[in-house]
Amino acid sequence: MASPFTTGLSDDYKRWRDKKLLHYPERLEDLVVEIADPKSPTTAEKNEIFSRIKRANMAIYTGPTGTDQDMSIPVEMMRSLGPVDYDINPEANPNGVTSLTPRDHSEGSTFDYIPYSNKPINWHTDGYYNGPDKTVKSLILHCVSQASNGGENKLLDHEIAFILLMDENPEYIQALMDINAMTIPARIENGKVMRADSPGPVFMTSRNDSALHMRYTHRTRSIIWSDTATGSASALRRILEADSPYIFTGLLQPGWGLACNNVLHTREPFSGDEIRLLYRIRYFDYIPHLLE
Ligand SMILES: [Fe+2]
Repeated sequence: MASPFTTGLSDDYKRWRDKKLLHYPERLEDLVVEIADPKSPTTAEKNEIFSRIKRANMAIYTGPTGTDQDMSIPVEMMRSLGPVDYDINPEANPNGVTSLTPRDHSEGSTFDYIPYSNKPINWHTDGYYNGPDKTVKSLILHCVSQASNGGENKLLDHEIAFILLMDENPEYIQALMDINAMTIPARIENGKVMRADSPGPVFMTSRNDSALHMRYTHRTRSIIWSDTATGSASALRRILEADSPYIFTGLLQPGWGLACNNVLHTREPFSGDEIRLLYRIRYFDYIPHLLE
């Protein structure tokens, strides 16, 4: 079968789309898998996760570890699912685990980043500012403790975003696959280039066109859209801001986690006395997901 991602509104695309939509989960609960020991899931439990990854590129596991702060829980969970090539960012421990929790902003400029606050984060995929050699293919978010109010994640499978755009106008997809569709301008601090301009497509394929990756941020500030991609970006914006049966909203509970192939997601704002703590690990390889 030719790739459904690179052949426009072809019969291969339509067959893949119809099958995908036929089997697509209807409710958030359909993504949930109960795991007895997240550090060592059984084959049957892993298969339950893989079947959800295959259908929706994401699964939510519910485990019994509650507020246990053991960072090896998400490490072992993902290791058991396949990804091994993890990202180490400046805030991560040697196993790639980053603690996402509000921090004292007086500690330094690093902590002014929104992920370390209680502010909302709009639609994005992780690592959208990375170059093409460092695309984040999968990630895990493991919840240790949740805020008193808020902190939900909205979730949308990026393959569904692809379908909604393709069915509206195949030219949207063509424009968003252009290598200069979206540029994240360089980050310059005190006259020094901390990160160079990062141009790239929104949708790209890998593994011989059998897998789709998305690079996106809903931010409007400091994003440069190419002239040909501007209309497509507006269409995508409209899709993400509309009510949709494909968009799920979930609140991870202590001991639960989201394992996904870098689907589109948000973080809603949160507040209250409880300290929200999530562990995140990003990977440069996928949780297995084969096209059929
Ligand atoms: Fe994220």
